[in-house]
Formats: sequence, C-alpha cells, structure tokens
Amino acid sequence: MNEFKNVVLVKHPLISHHLSIIRDKNTKSDRFRQSSQQIFKFLIFEATKNLPVKTINIETPLQSTDVEIINDEIKIICVPILRAGLGISEIFEKLIPNVIVQHLGMYRNEETLKPIWYYNKIPNKLNDSPKNYYIYICDPMCATGNSSYEVIKLYAKERQIPQENITFINLISCPTGMKKIFSEFPNIRMFTSAIDEKLNEKGYIVPGLGDAGDRLFNTMY
Ligand code: PRP
Ligand code: URA
Repeated sequence: MNEFKNVVLVKHPLISHHLSIIRDKNTKSDRFRQSSQQIFKFLIFEATKNLPVKTINIETPLQSTDVEIINDEIKIICVPILRAGLGISEIFEKLIPNVIVQHLGMYRNEETLKPIWYYNKIPNKLNDSPKNYYIYICDPMCATGNSSYEVIKLYAKERQIPQENITFINLISCPTGMKKIFSEFPNIRMFTSAIDEKLNEKGYIVPGLGDAGDRLFNTMY
C-alpha cells in the first residue's frame, strides 16, 4: 500500500529480480539496459490496461466471430524524456500498435535540481478532441518530480488532456516526487516498480540506482 491513490506499485518476483540487477553498482551498462527494459515491459502491460477497445467482426478460416481491438479512434502517445527515457521507451514502441512518439529533452541543473529544456517535439495544437489522447510518459526516475511535473503540465494544463488519460511510467520513484506531482495533478496515473525512501543531499534517490542516463548509456566517466 502507498498513500497515493493513483500510484500503482507493480510487484512481481521477476520485477524484484531485475530490480536487484539494476540497483547493483557492479552491473554493466548492457545488462542494466536489458533488465530495465524487462521491468518496463511489465509496467507497460499494467499501465495500458486503460486503453479503450472496440468490437469488430472478422472471419476465421472457419466462421465469423467478434473480436476486440484497441479502439483506433484514440491516439496513443509515448513520451520519452531524453535522455534516460529513450533507454526504455523503445519497448513501448515495439509493444503498442500505431504509437505516436513525442520526444522531450531536458536535464536537471545539478545545483537547482530544476529541469533545463533542450528539445520539444509536441505539436502546439491538438488535431482531435483532448479526450481521445492517451499519454504515456516514460522516464526511469521520479526523484524531485521536477522534470516529470513539467511534462505533465504541457499535456494536462496547456493542452487540456484529461488527467485520467495521462500516465507516468517509471522504474523508481520516491515520496518527494510523488508529492510534487500529485499535489497539482491528483488524477494522473503513475505506475512504478519501486517507491524508495528519500532523496540524498544531491537530489539522488536512495537507495536508488544512481544516474539512470549514465548507467543506460555507459557515460560514467
Ligand atoms: C534524470 C531522469 C529524470 C530526472 C529525474 O535525468 O532521467 O529525467 O533525472 O529527476 P527529477 O525527478 O528530480 O526531475 P537527467 O537530468 O539526469 O538527464 P539525462 O536523462 O540526460 O541523464
Ligand atoms: N536522476 C537519476 O538518474 N537518478 C536519481 O536518483 C535522481 C535523478
């Protein structure tokens, strides 16, 4: 149980197993990426249960039958937050049919812990009703929540997408980040595989896994 009603902590022995690999400081980059993606796959499975379906009729080789497909009137948007989000979002792109990918680039200022934008691939105007958009934000970490908060704001406030249609999927979160996000956006949804205790004095999640981007892309110089 956790105190945030819209946070789903997804538990499974395979998730625990892969979490133990990515938390271990001795795990090398290729294995880190593999295990991160394995966990992410389980999280995607749970997080996309809200996708609306519709019934169509098809012919099997033997007879006609009703089947369910994902409703093709909706737009499924995958939002990788660069850079670390890229290391996991490719799994989303492989699993979900006809996904639209809207990249956003930002990094944390190490002093202020506020995000600095450098890329934004979201169109300014929607070309459909906001309720038809299903947003899945992909980033391995929710630490202060400052980065993901900015992204959620772009969709929930500036484009008026219903909060219920906005889902943030991450590997490791912590109460500080969740408070930041849910105090402003109580009805968005979050799926995570771990809720860690706190942040250290440099804004890193502890026990955490260190710098997700550096570990995914082998840039720990
Ligand atoms: C990391 C991570 C998140 C952010 C989380 O990115 O991938 O985007 O920090 O921290 P927050 O919740 O305190 O905002 P980072 O800034 O290290 O950039 P990178 O992905 O390019 O490595
Ligand atoms: N970003 C990371 O990559 N790791 C943390 O622990 C916090 C922010």
